[in-house]
Parts: sequence; C-alpha cells; structure tokens
Amino acid sequence: MDKPRIVLGVSGGIAAYKACELLRRFTESGHDVRVVPTASALHFVGAATWSALSGNPVSAEVWDDVHEVPHVRIGQHADLVVVAPATADMLAKAAHGLADDLLTNTLLTARCPVVFAPAMHTEMWEHPATQENVATLRRRGAVVVEPAVGRLTGVDTGKGRLPDPAEIFEVCRRVLARGVAEPDLRGRHVVVSAGGTREPLDPVRFLGNRSSGKQGYALARTAAARGARVTLVSANAGLPDPAGVDVVRVGTAVQLREAVLKAAADADAVVMAAAVADFRPAAYASGKIKKKDGQDPDPIVLVRNPDILAEISADRARPGQVVVGFAAETDDVLANGRAKLARKGCDLLVVNEVGERKTFGSEENEAVVLGADGSETPVPHGPKEALADTVWDLVAGRLG
Ligand code: CTP
Repeated sequence: MDKPRIVLGVSGGIAAYKACELLRRFTESGHDVRVVPTASALHFVGAATWSALSGNPVSAEVWDDVHEVPHVRIGQHADLVVVAPATADMLAKAAHGLADDLLTNTLLTARCPVVFAPAMHTEMWEHPATQENVATLRRRGAVVVEPAVGRLTGVDTGKGRLPDPAEIFEVCRRVLARGVAEPDLRGRHVVVSAGGTREPLDPVRFLGNRSSGKQGYALARTAAARGARVTLVSANAGLPDPAGVDVVRVGTAVQLREAVLKAAADADAVVMAAAVADFRPAAYASGKIKKKDGQDPDPIVLVRNPDILAEISADRARPGQVVVGFAAETDDVLANGRAKLARKGCDLLVVNEVGERKTFGSEENEAVVLGADGSETPVPHGPKEALADTVWDLVAGRLG
C-alpha cells in the first residue's frame, strides 16, 4: 500500500522549530511528507533541515521544478494538509483564497482534509479579523485547532501557543483515519469530563479511584478532530493537554460539578466520562491526621456527593442537549446498565465491564452503548479512540 501523503505547511512563526518534531512523528509512523514552508518560515528553520528530515525536496516558491507543475500537483495528491504553525497572515491568506506562494497554491488545490494549528500572540489571535478568518475556514470544513495557553515568544504568556506537536499529530491521525473532509461536529460545543475525583481527608490524604482519564481524553481529542469546540473538565488525570481543547482542571466532585455545569450552559453535548466519587468525607482535617498510641483510628464518616449526570440530564441547559454517561459494572452488565440509564435519565450510557486488565489505565476498551431509545451499539475491543468515535457518531446522529 502507498504511504499516506502528507503536506506539512509551515508558516513564519517562531514555533516553526516545533514542526520538525511533528514531521518526525509523521515520517517515523510511515507517512510520506512533503514540507512546504513559506519564505518567512525559512528564516526560522532552513530548507536543509526540512529536506533532510522529510527525505523530499523543499521549496517555498512556485518557480522551482515548474515542469512538474508543483503548485497544482502537491495539493491534488495530498491525503492531508496540515499547516503548523499557521500564522495570522497564513490564516488570512487561506480564508481569502490568496495564492502567492507554493503553500497558498497548495491550499487551493487540495481536496483532502486540511488542519490548521495556529500560533501567534494573544492579541493577534483574538483580533476580530483573525477570528473571522478562522470562522470562515471552519465553515468551509477545515479543522482549525485552538491554540494552547502558555508561554509565548519573549516573557509574555497567554493563548496563542502552538499545541504540543504530539497532540497535533494525534488530531491529524484522527482526521486521516476518518478520511472525511467534512468535520461533522463543527460549530458544536461539547463538554467532556475525565479522570477521577479526589476527596481530601486532610492536607496529605484523599479518597480517590483508579481512573486514568485516558477514555475522556480520547473523547476530547476525537471531538476536536471532528471540528467541535471542546471543554475538557479534567480531574487529576496527569495527561498532556489534547491539542485545541480548553482544559479546566478540578480536584473534587463538587469542583467538577461546578465546572461541568458552567461549561454545559451553552453545550450541545455533555459526556460524563469522569469517575466521580459518590461519597466524600464529612469532615476535612486542616492538619495531618496523626496516629495515637494504643488507640483505634477514628472511623471516616462519609456524606453523599451530588449526582452530576442525573442533575444535568434532568435539567438540560439547552433544548436538545445530548447527555452521555459511563458505567463500569462487574456483574449483569447489560441489565445493570439499562437500570442505570433509566435512573440517570441520560440519552446514552456507555457500559464497560471492569476486570483486571480491562478499562483502568489501559489503552484499549470494549463496551456497549445503550440508548434511551432502546438501541444497543456494541463496540468491539479496540483503541479508546474507536469507542470515542462511536460515541460521537451516536451523539451527532441525535444532534441531527
Ligand atoms: N456520576 C456523576 N456524579 C456522581 C457519580 C457518578 O455524574 N456523583 C456519573 C459518572 O461520571 C458516570 C455515571 O455517573 O458517567 C455512572 O457512575 P456510577 O458511579 O457508575 O453510577 P452510580 O449511579 O453511582 O451507580 P453505582 O451504584 O453502580 O455506584
């Protein structure tokens, strides 16, 4: 089989050096990459680097190898075009269909999915001109990944950082795997909770659970690759931020509830993948609890936490909002799942059977997705992203 053909467009920002790592990830995983920098990008990273890392010729202009008509052929033959970093200037040119160099020509001739990973100063990103260009590109079907928040060039920090190359790679991998040029969740806002809550007993101890957060992160990543605006409410996951996802970090169930309700106010869908503690210690000791010689420890008194899934299902922030829950069961998986779906009042419930090597911390998963309409969608053993895509298929179907 031919290697998938990737065009890596690089525009002129300091983050151009990070595109070298993205390039390596593509080549090392069996992709044929043609790097198309802009003239300004070559001020940051030279053609020799791109050429050596990709094993392909590199040119920024349409005047090299004219007999091969590169300004048309490169785009026509691509399976995916990714522009990383995409500067404000590049987004403007792409939105307006300008074609004054090889990359902008390539963007006009490509008929495959296109991913932009913008990087610029916060002011430039937030400027209405840039925001309108981004909206135009998204409306036309491009995936424009939200920039990350953090240190920018110089001493300033804010939104505008290029997401981690490993995470841009994941977005591209998902877009390629689905083979669609139409991101079906574009214009949608989805909220995903992930990880496991921790309920503190004292400053050094907590009651927690074994959720790794991987399934929730896979849901966030796949939704972003399908064009959604994603808010990921993450409880103690310790995983890298998925590209293009707004991450809100929380610790306890009460904090998770607050963050989910806030984000759900304008959400089209809410997926509760987090393992939420049903109980928390009734009292918090502000000093470390010490053992006392010859005495039994005090019992831990627990109180109920709010049931967030039941609450958002019963009181939808928007008409037609789709609510999805998760259930980990050890026995009578389907019967317990059906009962839980009815009890929680959600639209879909992803039911996992938990066991020694299943679910917690694993890269893979296997589940049945139960629908309130009586449907039953089995998802065979496979990557957590495959299950995530099935969930989004079902959500997209319900959103109409
Ligand atoms: N959940 C929630 N708030 C809680 C507990 C759970 O929103 N306080 C959500 C989880 O995020 C998950 C779903 O509810 O999507 C299922 O949680 P689970 O604990 O399995 O359900 P319970 O109703 O607590 O059932 P069980 O009696 O099996 O613990």
